Amino acid sequence: MYSEYILNTYKRNELLLKKGHGSWLMDHLDNEYLDMVAGIAVNSLGYSHPKLVAVMKEQSELLWHVSNLYWTKEQGVLAEKLIELSDHSKVFFCNSGTEAVEGALKTAKKYGQNINVQKKKVICFNHSFHGRTLGALSVTAQEKYLKSFGVNTEDVIVCEFNNLEEVTSKISDEICGIIVEPVQGEGGIYPGTQGFLSGLKTLADSNDILLIFDEVQCGIGRMGTFFAYEHFNVVPDVVCMAKGLGGGVPIGAFLVNKKAEVLTYGDHGSTFGGNPLICSLSKAVVDEISKKEFLKEVKLKSKKLKEGLLILKEKNNLIREVRGEGLMIGIELKTKASEVVEAGLKNNLLLISAGEYVLRLVPPLIIKEQEIELFLNKFEDILKQL
Ligand SMILES: Cc1ncc(COP(=O)(O)O)c(C=O)c1O
Repeated sequence: MYSEYILNTYKRNELLLKKGHGSWLMDHLDNEYLDMVAGIAVNSLGYSHPKLVAVMKEQSELLWHVSNLYWTKEQGVLAEKLIELSDHSKVFFCNSGTEAVEGALKTAKKYGQNINVQKKKVICFNHSFHGRTLGALSVTAQEKYLKSFGVNTEDVIVCEFNNLEEVTSKISDEICGIIVEPVQGEGGIYPGTQGFLSGLKTLADSNDILLIFDEVQCGIGRMGTFFAYEHFNVVPDVVCMAKGLGGGVPIGAFLVNKKAEVLTYGDHGSTFGGNPLICSLSKAVVDEISKKEFLKEVKLKSKKLKEGLLILKEKNNLIREVRGEGLMIGIELKTKASEVVEAGLKNNLLLISAGEYVLRLVPPLIIKEQEIELFLNKFEDILKQL
C-alpha cells in the first residue's frame, strides 16, 4: 500500500507498528522495541499515558473542532498555562513546527517593517533546520533540503553557529530577526554555548532585532527545564514550539513578548490551530511535564545516560564524541549512523540519526532508569557486533 499509494518522500524502517506502552512499541508480530526516538522527540510522555488517554476519551465526547471563529475554553486554558510558565505575553496556535517558524518569521518581518522598509533580513546559522515550508526552508542552511525548490534566500544571512563575532559583524539596520535552535537537532545535535546565546540576546536588544528561539525539538522539558531557554538562562523575544507540546497530537505554537506583539487582526491564521481536542491534550502534557519533580527526573536521567555513554566511549573506539543537553544527546560515530540504526532494529531498539555519522537519542522523557541501563547494554553489544 505504501509503495502503491504514498509519495515516496521518506526512508522508512521495515517495521509495522501497532501499539505502544510507556517507552515501548510493539510490531504486528508482537515483538517489543525500546524506543529511543519517541516519534522524533514528540512522545515525551511515551505511549498510552493514562492521563492522556483519559483526556482524549473525555474531550472526544465533548468537542473536537470549531475553527477560530469562536471561543473554546480549552484553547484559553492552554494559552493561560503557557503564558504563566513563560516570560512572554501572548501565544499563537498552529499545527506543526514549520508553521510555528513561519509565524515567528512573519512576526520578525512585520516588526522590521514597522521600523523601516529595509529592515527585512533574517540571520540564521549553518547546520540549522527549521522545517519544510518555503519560509522555514529559507532559514534552513543545509543545501540538501533546499535544492530543487528555488528557495528565496535573498533576505537571509547565514552565520556560523556559536560564532558571535561573525553575527556581530553582520548586524545592520536591515536585520529584523535572528533565528536559532538553542540545541541544533537535525543538523547533528550541536548545543549553543551560553555566551553565544546570551550574546545574540544582547545584539537583538540593542539593535531593534527580534531574537527567535526555535525550541521545536529541544523544548518542552527535553532540557530538564520546561522551555529550553530556561536551561540557557536567555529569554528570547519569540519561542517556537511543537513536537513535545502535544505528546503525539499535532500542535505548534509560538510565544511572543511585548516587544514582539506585532501581529494583529487579519495578519495570520490557521483553520485547525488551537482546536479543543488538541488543546485539551496539550494542556494535560504541559501540566505533567512542567512539574518540578518531572523536570528534576529528566536532569537525573540525562546525567545517567551521558555518564553511561562516556564510559562506553572509553571502551569502544567507534564513538568519536558524545554531546547534547538533557535528553537530547548526539553520539558522533566513526561508522555510519544508519548501520547502527539498522543493527538497533535487529536488537529490538529503535534509534534515529541526525546526519550521516551522528546517532541521536531523544527518548520519551518518562523513560525509566532501568530502561536507560538496558539501552546502554544493548548499544554496547551493537557496537561490539559492528
Ligand atoms: C528545530 C526544528 N524546527 C522545526 C521543525 C519542523 O517541525 P515539523 O516537522 O513539525 O514541521 C523541526 C522538525 O524536526 C525541528 O527540529
